[in-house]
Amino acid sequence: MKHILAIETSCDETAASVVGFDDKKVIILSNIVSSQIDIHKKYGGVVPEVASRAHLETISLVIKEALINAKVNLKQIDYFAVTYEPGLIGSLLIGIQTAKTLAWAMNKPLIKVNHLDGHFYSALIQNDKIVYPILNTKYPILSLLVSGGHTQLMLAKSPTNIKIIGQTQDDAAGEAFDKASQILGLGYPGGPAISAAAEIASCCHSREGGNLYYSDSILDPRVKPEDDKIFDYSLPITDYQLPIPMIDSNDLNFSYSGLKTALLYKYQNLSKTLPLQSLNTLIPLLAYNFQDSLVKSLVLKVIKAAKKYQPKTITLVGGVAANKYLREELKSATQSLNPSIPLLVPDQKFCTDNAAMIAVAAIIKLKNK
Ligand code: KG4
Ligand code: ZN
Repeated sequence: MKHILAIETSCDETAASVVGFDDKKVIILSNIVSSQIDIHKKYGGVVPEVASRAHLETISLVIKEALINAKVNLKQIDYFAVTYEPGLIGSLLIGIQTAKTLAWAMNKPLIKVNHLDGHFYSALIQNDKIVYPILNTKYPILSLLVSGGHTQLMLAKSPTNIKIIGQTQDDAAGEAFDKASQILGLGYPGGPAISAAAEIASCCHSREGGNLYYSDSILDPRVKPEDDKIFDYSLPITDYQLPIPMIDSNDLNFSYSGLKTALLYKYQNLSKTLPLQSLNTLIPLLAYNFQDSLVKSLVLKVIKAAKKYQPKTITLVGGVAANKYLREELKSATQSLNPSIPLLVPDQKFCTDNAAMIAVAAIIKLKNK
């Protein structure tokens, strides 16, 4: 079995992974991710200079841990791989220089990988193992890539023929989650925060009679309410609904800046009319409606693209693919469209940035010369 060591530092995760492979299978032997979330939290987003310095501090440790966990030493590595674009230049440089140095010192080839190709192939990672699925995966593949920096629909006719068929006109989906979370005061990163708040709303509000029935105990959206404290705010549900972006557009593009502004105006208007306590109780519902509109717009375009291009496989990848509601909604939409088209979605830990996906993309590059 050959071994590849991959490094990923394009944004705020320092990651290294060792992957073993032969002609029949690919196995993730280790996948180490050191997240900088706690460092950037206080700024409400990633600070590039701070990110580069944090990568510099942790990269050697992360690589060492990846080797130890894989029970492989540096001499057993046959190939090195590294993310070379797109990303924050200072952050990328730390990974690239480290990988170049290792490849040069060990006299082994270095494979450069585009970060988006990494996300694209992450869909093939199932249960920490890949039983060389590239052989089983049927083309064309329709892929929805949703991350902090990108939102695009891709159509792959083969591993070497991947075309972008739709993309965001402004904010990326992950960026929209992060901004919405900031508006609602839910913190960074926004995706997990909005989704946690939305889950509270979905479990305790009902839309009977067009009115909102809601628990008064949700002062902190992260705290689960007691079910027996439901009462009627008697507020029409439409007061909190948000538009579904690009619902009538004929193309396969996305747009999220309008949705973000709609949320901001709704929140500002409510804060003028409601006391703070009531406003706080509505945050989960606003988070729910924001997530609902964003997810519906994504699902809508995937289905539109699937009808047009008749893919044999559909995949959902990127940090936002970790979103439970999106995973469920897309699953049910693709099932109703055609239950024989498989929907591949990686484990949540392979949705957000990681180096295992970079290794997999590098192996596919190798196989395709
Ligand atoms: O792929 P990723 O780790 O980094 C980029 O390449 O951008 O994606 C990060 C993005 C962030 O915007 C984060 O808020 C979002 O993915 N995200 C989520 C969830 N987990 C992470 N968005 C929605 N729901 C989640 N559960
Ligand atoms: Zn990414």
